[in-house]
Amino acid sequence: MPTSDPFPASRAIPEGGLARMRELEALIRRYDELYYQQATQEIPDADYDLLMRELEGLERLHPTLVSPDSPTKRVGGGVASEFAAVTHRRPMMSLANAMDEAEFRAFDERIRRFLEERAPAEGFVYSCEPKFDGLAMSLTYEAGELVLAATRGDGTTGENVTENIFTIKDIPRSLTGQRDDLPRVFEVRGEVYIRKDEFKALNDARVARGEPAFVNPRNTAAGSLRQLDPAMTAARPLRFFAYALGDVDGGNPPRTQHEVLAWLAELGLPVMQDEVHTLTGTDAVCARYRELITCRHELPMEIDGMVVKVDSLALQAELGQVSKSPRWAVAMKFPPEERSTRLRDIELRVGRTGAITPSAILEPVYVGGATVSRATLHNEDEIRRKDLRIGDLVIVRRAGDVIPEIVRSIPEHRTGAERDFVFPTECPVCGSPAERSGGEAVSRCSNPVDCPAQLREALIHWAGRNTMDIDGLGEKNIDTFLKFGLIRSVAELYNLTAPQLADLDRFGEKSAQNLILAIDASRTRSLDRFLFGLGIRHVGQSLSEILAKRFGTLDAVRAATLDELLATDEVGPKVAESILAYFSNDRVHSLLAELDSHGVRPTPVELAARPEGGPDLTGQTWVFTGTLETMTRDDAEAIVKRHGGKASGSVSKKTTVVVAGPGAGSKEAKARELGVDVIDEPTFRQRLGLE
Ligand code: IVH
Repeated sequence: MPTSDPFPASRAIPEGGLARMRELEALIRRYDELYYQQATQEIPDADYDLLMRELEGLERLHPTLVSPDSPTKRVGGGVASEFAAVTHRRPMMSLANAMDEAEFRAFDERIRRFLEERAPAEGFVYSCEPKFDGLAMSLTYEAGELVLAATRGDGTTGENVTENIFTIKDIPRSLTGQRDDLPRVFEVRGEVYIRKDEFKALNDARVARGEPAFVNPRNTAAGSLRQLDPAMTAARPLRFFAYALGDVDGGNPPRTQHEVLAWLAELGLPVMQDEVHTLTGTDAVCARYRELITCRHELPMEIDGMVVKVDSLALQAELGQVSKSPRWAVAMKFPPEERSTRLRDIELRVGRTGAITPSAILEPVYVGGATVSRATLHNEDEIRRKDLRIGDLVIVRRAGDVIPEIVRSIPEHRTGAERDFVFPTECPVCGSPAERSGGEAVSRCSNPVDCPAQLREALIHWAGRNTMDIDGLGEKNIDTFLKFGLIRSVAELYNLTAPQLADLDRFGEKSAQNLILAIDASRTRSLDRFLFGLGIRHVGQSLSEILAKRFGTLDAVRAATLDELLATDEVGPKVAESILAYFSNDRVHSLLAELDSHGVRPTPVELAARPEGGPDLTGQTWVFTGTLETMTRDDAEAIVKRHGGKASGSVSKKTTVVVAGPGAGSKEAKARELGVDVIDEPTFRQRLGLE
């Protein structure tokens, strides 16, 4: 375990280059060992790349201090002892990285200078390919038959994993074509990987069996190939894509990389040709890079960059290689989606529905193309599941437009100074007891009316455009009113007077008057707006409209019974419960009374007429079972509700009609037993006037 923090907050190169160089070497060796020998990973790739870059930078500054066995000189991680060593016929190289477009343009400049007048004036033709995030593999075919499969190892010597590779269905045992036309020796380079969907299915199955989930597809692919029993490898969904040639003896040698790929495909090897673009000039390459960044998540496998190769094999030969990588290719890495940083603190927020949500305060880190200093933690269980302590080094993920989240902590880097976070049993704002009801993951403040945090959010919601639409009443004004104690409930808004407001900093006489007028105008908003404004859990805008049309007045909504609510479109048991619980709360009673006394009386809404021509199903209960052929079950139930009926999932004496489609089973049998009317779908359509 490292003794000092490997990631100083500034990440600047500290004084004392030598000590830092040795420290970096040790760290990189340790991560290489984990990665290559144990197929696991402690820190995100982007962090590893930064350490490597820092070491390379220091080595350039102090060439005399470079260790002879520095990790910057090696490819990959050596050979694990369980497998026989194989010497590659041609070394397996690695690629230099370009972290962004500017670094790619610098690469282009470099090779242009290197080739001098032999560089094409119109720009290089490049083969732009996805950089698969898997495990490099070399396959050797002799006379068209697969005879050897080897991992990269240190680039010169790899491990013989032929038996395991035989279990991968993507990899042909024999090449396609006439034996006499096939090359005598044909070495193919490519990547073994696991598709994202198959990785998820694999993990779901493991978790269901009580086994621990794998961390990511790449490490799982690597670990799967290292199984000593090929049957274990066969049980993992490994796949393969070919992207390069090694040693080839015979055949009709291609002249460009795109011809190489076409030849590989012709011989029956899997090639991802759709995503390979042959482009001229740096602008076209950069445009493709940006495009690939935006569509990377739609690809079936994980990719972590775009490999750009000079297309002409003749130019490749002229460019040659520098130490461990070719001069003619570069890996344009994607902006990292995962980085490590410190968890400084955990803050709690209380939302409009009283939900107490923790959020992580992070040391700012550049990830997923933005600087992130906060991440959502959802709830108490998540903090425990991810084993987060304040002060931990944690991995932060921000993929695409998804909000940043903490993937996990890195417990290996704990110093002992980290603190456990204790989730409070009281609302952090008002001190009322916090409750976690019936299987819910969130705890909620139990005081929905007076808790200042909930009140603030409730006021913002109440004043919003889709609710009571009070022009000029935004967050800032609400905060001011709360701060000066001018209001202690939504109803007290209607007590405010213009002179009271005019005394406040933010207001002049005119603006105070305008706001009072706007508040005034909201007293008679329509019932649907009023209902939505109350902020009843599970009652959003469209449901508020449905309720308003079904019941017409506030009194009718308040008096609605469970059955009546359940007979309303879009209302299921959870929503009905929430509405009933809300209107039976004492604090809600006083709030509504107070609003009423201030003249806040929502305008009734015209009742929705029953669909014309259809039957009246009031008081009836319908059950749908088996497969419906012309509509979904939800649609069918909605139709019954529109006609005043109720839909239920189970058959009882109270059931009026059962609609049974193909595949109906016990429900239909029970209905017949009870003598309930059983009809088929066409009859249902007829009765409801749908034909
Ligand atoms: S060509 C001499 N093409 O990236 C270059 N490599 O860091 C040989 N990789 O070891 C590699 N996708 O495991 C090439 N389309 C692609 C690739 C690719 C992924 C991996 C490969 C290689 C590493 C280089």
